[in-house]
Amino acid sequence: MQATLHLYRENVISEIDKRIYGSFIEHLGRAVYGGIYEPEHPTADDEGFREDVLKLIKELDVPIVRYPGGNFVSGYNWEDGTGPKEKRPRKLELAWKTIETNQVGIDEFQSWAKKANTDIMMAVNLGTRGPDEARNLLEYCNFPGGTYYADMRRKNGFEEPFNIKTWCLGNEMDGPWQICAKTAQEYGRIACETGKLMKTIDPEIELVACGSSSLTIPTFGEWERVVLENCYDYVDYISLHSYYNNTADDTSEFLAGSLDFDTFIKSVAAIADSVKAKKHSNKTINLSVDEWNVWYHSNDADAALEPWQIAPPQLEDIYNFQDALLVGCLLMTLLRNADRVKMACIAQLVNVIAPIMTENGGAAWAQTIFYPYLHASRYGRGLSLEVKTSCDCYTSTSGRSVPCLETAAVWNEESKELTIFAVNKCDQPMQLTTSLNGFGSLSVIEHLTMAGYDLKAENNAEHPNNVVPHSDGKTTVDGNEAVSELAPYSWNVIRLKG
Ligand code: AHR
Repeated sequence: MQATLHLYRENVISEIDKRIYGSFIEHLGRAVYGGIYEPEHPTADDEGFREDVLKLIKELDVPIVRYPGGNFVSGYNWEDGTGPKEKRPRKLELAWKTIETNQVGIDEFQSWAKKANTDIMMAVNLGTRGPDEARNLLEYCNFPGGTYYADMRRKNGFEEPFNIKTWCLGNEMDGPWQICAKTAQEYGRIACETGKLMKTIDPEIELVACGSSSLTIPTFGEWERVVLENCYDYVDYISLHSYYNNTADDTSEFLAGSLDFDTFIKSVAAIADSVKAKKHSNKTINLSVDEWNVWYHSNDADAALEPWQIAPPQLEDIYNFQDALLVGCLLMTLLRNADRVKMACIAQLVNVIAPIMTENGGAAWAQTIFYPYLHASRYGRGLSLEVKTSCDCYTSTSGRSVPCLETAAVWNEESKELTIFAVNKCDQPMQLTTSLNGFGSLSVIEHLTMAGYDLKAENNAEHPNNVVPHSDGKTTVDGNEAVSELAPYSWNVIRLKG
């Protein structure tokens, strides 16, 4: 197959907000307990955080981590996770039917976030609770002192405010599964009034309103419109959540998932802009894709799980090579929509549908999806460029015409590096010819690939390096043209230097 790509230095979609490489840690399964926190682990530091896990997270250079949920937050009392650990209550956790020990709460998490070199995207409970608790939590986290909750934080050993700048107004309030789910009108009003209180306390914070929990939920579209009509003046972002599965074991449909992701993102932006127009507002609401990933491998195990355990294995998807290809495509979709998507969180970070897996008391390793995420976070910073492509298409099982090539390109003015990300979604080799316009003379740094693996190949504790990238791709540059060989079913990172 032959494909072409035209890149122009001047054709910039947007500067990339590095927060699109965010992630998510929920009090769910072994994400916190056995994931980031395990005081008995040989690598645990003096606060009980696993240093082997921290090392992998730092490698990913994760700019922001959403916490503490997810569905969990809609039944959570944040006060339970503060103060002396021995006094913290054990409680039934109704979102995931477990027992929450509260040994980790915001006090510990903010300390962990510093160690992980990341910021926090904090969610407030708009399920069982509401504006009152949200404002108390914000006072606890961000107010310097001299008031009840700020002094409670100081008494707990934290003199300086945590200064958390990004806040989610609840989680998936549109989902019937959510604890105290709401109609769009109910949620829009609560989001407005909660946002009003929170911005009175700290006008510097940014707020994310809950959008739809999937493109296919029946309320999609109308939900965004009604919610934003209610809370437009107080929020800065609208969220969207998107998970992909291959339960049908159909690679052609699975790899087409990024087309739906693109549609979802563009549709939410269009609805947000229609509310903007209707309100005669000058303010643009941008997008926070604060949950996205592949999720399905663990469905059967989760359905069979006994309830009311402490940190049981839940949502422990073991990812394969094919999943890494789709994750690469989803990352490129975020990049091509960098003008509207300013934050995104791969869900989640450790053990729970995550790029990093651990054994309790044992190893930590990188799943297949770790690598496209690593590459995008490392080389996908700078300006996202428009990509004009022509390539063959395949017809998926449902009859969709799917381009065999998916690509995104990033120019980093500081390092003078051009990075072309590309996935070949087909079972034939592809020669990609890229015209390079306005970059000056470029040479190849490296062409990283993940290719040649069985689509079902995985990494595990015994074989953590079964599926890894190699710097063995073939790209040559001649004048203003780069020619790259893209292997069948491959993830490619073509790095050029000016
Ligand atoms: O990430 C797992 C769950 O998926 C989250 O708790 C919820 O928000 C979503 O449905």
